[in-house]
Amino acid sequence: MKKLNSFLLSASLIALLFACSKKQAAEIKPDGPTTVTTANVTYSNFAGALFQNKCASCHGQNGAIRTVWLFNGLASIKNDVRVANSVLVTKTMPKGSTLTANELALLQAWFDRNTPE
Ligand code: HEC
Repeated sequence: MKKLNSFLLSASLIALLFACSKKQAAEIKPDGPTTVTTANVTYSNFAGALFQNKCASCHGQNGAIRTVWLFNGLASIKNDVRVANSVLVTKTMPKGSTLTANELALLQAWFDRNTPE
């Protein structure tokens, strides 16, 4: 019985040790990619690239539709209510393509959180 007890004790100690080192390994991840969620979405981790990829071909500096709306960074989105409206409410933009449900949810959250940089 005594033997069994000490076996169980060392087994649980070993298990504890492994649990600790595993947890540490998961936490020490200085430059690992962060998953973008509705809670942490920003201009630099998500929205900027989306507008660049989905809007700039028509609305960028050299785009044919730049006179209607010029996309040139965060301010050009923040200061024009038509942007959120066209993407999230009327869904008329991006013209010629669509956003996935996940992209729409992240954008909605980004606008709801006041377009953090
Ligand atoms: C293929 C070209 C094209 C792309 C890509 C595109 N647009 Fe447009 N956009 C247009 C055209 C053309 C108009 C003029 C109105 C119309 O024809 O619907 C317009 C108008 C607008 C307007 C002003 C009128 C309105 O709807 O209130 C906004 C704001 C706008 N686009 C935002 C965006 C955003 C944001 C994206 C990316 C998510 C985007 N557009 C992608 C072609 C494009």
